[in-house]
Amino acid sequence: MVIVSKSAAQQSLTVVDNRTNKVYEIPIKNNSVLATDIKKIKAQRQLDTDREEDETEQGLRVFDPAYMNTAVVQSKITYINGQDGILRYRGYPIQELVKKSNFLETAFLLIYGELPTKSQYSTWHDEIMHHTFIHSDIEGMFKSFRYDSHPMSMLTAAFSTMGAFAPEANPSLRGQKLYSNAASGNRESLEVLDKQIFRIIGKAPTLAAASYRMRQGRPFNRPAQGLSYTGNFLYLLDNLSGHQYQPHPVLEKALDALFIIHADHEVNCSTATVLQVGSSLVDPYSVIAAGCAALYGPSHGGASESAIRMLIEIGSPENVPAFMEKVEKRERVLVGFGHRVYKNVDPRSTAIRALAEEVFAVTGRNKLLDTALTLAEYASKSEFMRKRNLYPNVDFYSGLIYQAMGFPLDFYPVLFAVPRCVGWLAHWRQQMLSPGGVKIWRPRQLYLGEGEREYVPAEQRKEKSEATVFDAPVEVGHGADSKRNALATYKDESGNTWTKSKL
Ligand SMILES: CC(C)(COP(=O)(O)OP(=O)(O)OC[C@H]1O[C@@H](n2cnc3c(N)ncnc32)[C@H](O)[C@@H]1OP(=O)(O)O)[C@@H](O)C(=O)NCCC(=O)NCCS
Repeated sequence: MVIVSKSAAQQSLTVVDNRTNKVYEIPIKNNSVLATDIKKIKAQRQLDTDREEDETEQGLRVFDPAYMNTAVVQSKITYINGQDGILRYRGYPIQELVKKSNFLETAFLLIYGELPTKSQYSTWHDEIMHHTFIHSDIEGMFKSFRYDSHPMSMLTAAFSTMGAFAPEANPSLRGQKLYSNAASGNRESLEVLDKQIFRIIGKAPTLAAASYRMRQGRPFNRPAQGLSYTGNFLYLLDNLSGHQYQPHPVLEKALDALFIIHADHEVNCSTATVLQVGSSLVDPYSVIAAGCAALYGPSHGGASESAIRMLIEIGSPENVPAFMEKVEKRERVLVGFGHRVYKNVDPRSTAIRALAEEVFAVTGRNKLLDTALTLAEYASKSEFMRKRNLYPNVDFYSGLIYQAMGFPLDFYPVLFAVPRCVGWLAHWRQQMLSPGGVKIWRPRQLYLGEGEREYVPAEQRKEKSEATVFDAPVEVGHGADSKRNALATYKDESGNTWTKSKL
C-alpha cells in the first residue's frame, strides 16, 4: 500500500482501481467507510486471474475473517479503547460503576441509557425481583439432565425452554414484527419487549442456581423476598434448612461488583452471536440461549475455568518457568492472557484485583494466588508476551475469586452468563429499536472450492489419487459396544442377517 499525503483534510477516501484506472471517492464517517461503497468498485472479469466464482463484475468484496476490522453495528452502549485500556458503560468508566453503583442500577443504565432516578430504580428493582420465579415444569426439565451434566449445557437449554413457556413472546406465533414494531414507539410492542427483559434478568439467577443444585443433588430453593439481586442468587445456591439466610456482606458485594464487571463488553463473540441470531427476529429466549452457547467456549467465557485448571496443573510457583518455556515454544496457551481488543492492561482485571484482596480477607488466601502472581510476573517480563501485547485479562483473576468463594470450576461460565444477559439484552433491545428496521445479518464468503462439475455415477467414481485424512470420515471407536455384542448376529427388517460390525 502506498501512502501519499494530501494537503486538505477531507472526510473521504480516494481510491484508484488499477484494474480499470477508475477513481472512486468514498465518504468517511466516524472514521469508517461503508462496505457497500466498496461494492460499487466493479471491473470486467480477467480470464487469467479471476474465477467465475469471484463475481468480479458484481463489485469488490471486503474479506475480514474473524472480524479483525469490521464494525457491524452503530451502538451507544459500551465503549472500549483497547490501546489505552478504557472500558465505559454509556460513558461511565467501569471503575466508577464498580465503586459507586450496584448491578441492577448498572443493568438499567446499560439497557435504557441513563442511570435511573430513585423511582425508576425502585420500579425496575421490583419488576426484576418479581420475575425471579420459574415455572415448576422448567424445574422438571433440569431433573431430566444426567447428574454430572455441565451447568452451562443446562443453562443454555433452560433459556431455550423458557421461550417455549412464553408463546405470547414468540414472533413466530404473534407476528414477525412483534419486537421491531417497538422502534416506532408502539406501546404494545414495547410492553412485550420490556416484559421479556424483566423475565430474563429476573429468572437468570434462578435457572443458574437450579443447574448448580442439580449437580449437588440438592432440592431447588424458591426465590427469596427482601434480598438483593446477588443476595437472592446466593440464597438460591446455598440455602439449606436454616431460617433467615443472610449471605456474608463482603461476598454479596463482591459478587455484585463482579456482575457489574461482566455485564457487557461491546460486540464480543457472544454479543455478536446474539445480534446475528436476533437479526432473524426470533424470540429473545432463543437469542439468549445462542449467547450462552457462544460464551461457553474456552476462548471466551470458559477461560476463567480453564485458567484455574492451568494454575492447578502448574501446581506451585517453582514450576512457572518451565510452563512459560512451553508457552514461548507455542506448545501451550497462557489462559487468562491476551485479548482481541485490549492490547494493554484489561481495565476489568485491575478492578478485580482489588476485589480479590477483599474476598481473600474473608475466605482466606487462595492457595493458587502465589502461582498466579508468579506467572503474571514472569509473563510481564517475557519478551514473547510483551511483543504480542499479552496482558492478564478479566478471566485470570475472576477464577481466583470464584475459587476462593468455593464455586466449582464448571460453574464459572455460568457466573459470567448471568450478568452478561444484561449486556446481551441491551444490544438486542438496541437492535430491535433500530430506526431503519432490522435487517437480517447475512455475511458472504470467498468461494475457493471447485467450479461447476458434472455428477459422476457411483460405479464410475475412483479414489482420489492423493487422498488425505480430511477427505472422508475417520474410523471411530464405539466404546459402549461390548465384545459380546460384536460377536452376536442380528436380522434387519428385510430378514437379512448382520453381524454388529456391519450394522
Ligand atoms: C483472547 C484470544 C482468543 C484473542 O485472540 P486473538 O485476538 O485472535 O489473538 P491471536 O490468536 O491472533 O494472537 C496473537 C499472537 O499472540 C499469541 N497469543 C495470543 N494469546 C495468547 C496466550 N494467551 N498465550 C500465548 N500466546 C498467545 C498467538 O499465538 C499469536 O502469536 P503469533 O502472532 O506469533 O502467531 C487469545 O488471546 C487467547 O486465546 N487467550 C487465552 C484465552 C483467554 O484468556 N480468553 C479470554 C478472553 S477475555
